[in-house]
Amino acid sequence: MTQWWLEGATVALREYRAEDLDAVLRYAADPEVTRYLPWGPEGAEEVRDFLGQVASAALRTPRDQYEVAVVRKDSGEMIGGGRLGILSAANRRGDIGYVLRRDQWGLGLGSEVARLLVDFGFSSLGLHRIEATCDPKNGASRRVLEKVGMTFEGMRRHDFFVREAWRDSLLFSILEGEWRG
Ligand SMILES: CC(C)(COP(=O)(O)OP(=O)(O)OC[C@H]1O[C@@H](n2cnc3c(N)ncnc32)[C@H](O)[C@@H]1OP(=O)(O)O)[C@@H](O)C(=O)NCCC(=O)NCCS
Repeated sequence: MTQWWLEGATVALREYRAEDLDAVLRYAADPEVTRYLPWGPEGAEEVRDFLGQVASAALRTPRDQYEVAVVRKDSGEMIGGGRLGILSAANRRGDIGYVLRRDQWGLGLGSEVARLLVDFGFSSLGLHRIEATCDPKNGASRRVLEKVGMTFEGMRRHDFFVREAWRDSLLFSILEGEWRG
């Protein structure tokens, strides 16, 4: 039986495995999926490197990066990825991110993943503030952040240089008291 790291109603999160390569490629190589991301589209070599880096990061103590696979509980299919990072342990500040295969969009799963990550950050890691950014044109991601109760704080100008162009990011955050309230 699979040992889930975190479990929601429809999806569960677990550590990545080397055999996830093809499943990761299904979303990481899709330009529609990576359109608003600061990475991709990726090929097999890049995904292999990514899985290696994730495996090393998972062994670091104290752990400061939780880069995990998203799995559908009904089919066991690996359909995306989630991430929770500790930006500052001293200030109890972290950030989250998520990505799903295109045929899984619009089912509420992105919000479920974001909720699981935020809850873990506050309940298990004792964070005080969790933030997230998205491209101003990424309406679905913005909506996910609003649905988990994050507050829009403003725009970081020219935050990334992606695919030969500067990109702005919208900054959102939620505080532990707001989550518990
Ligand atoms: C962002 C992403 C994870 C959302 O996943 P999802 O499972 O479709 O999200 P949910 O179904 O939980 O919620 C999406 C919400 O956005 C809304 N939405 C979808 N497209 C939208 C758009 N273009 N503009 C505004 N809102 C939009 C949906 O209607 C839904 O809101 P609702 O529940 O109020 O109707 C998914 O689109 C994805 O993987 N995108 C590519 C990777 C990415 O951009 N990741 C985020 C990086 S910041």
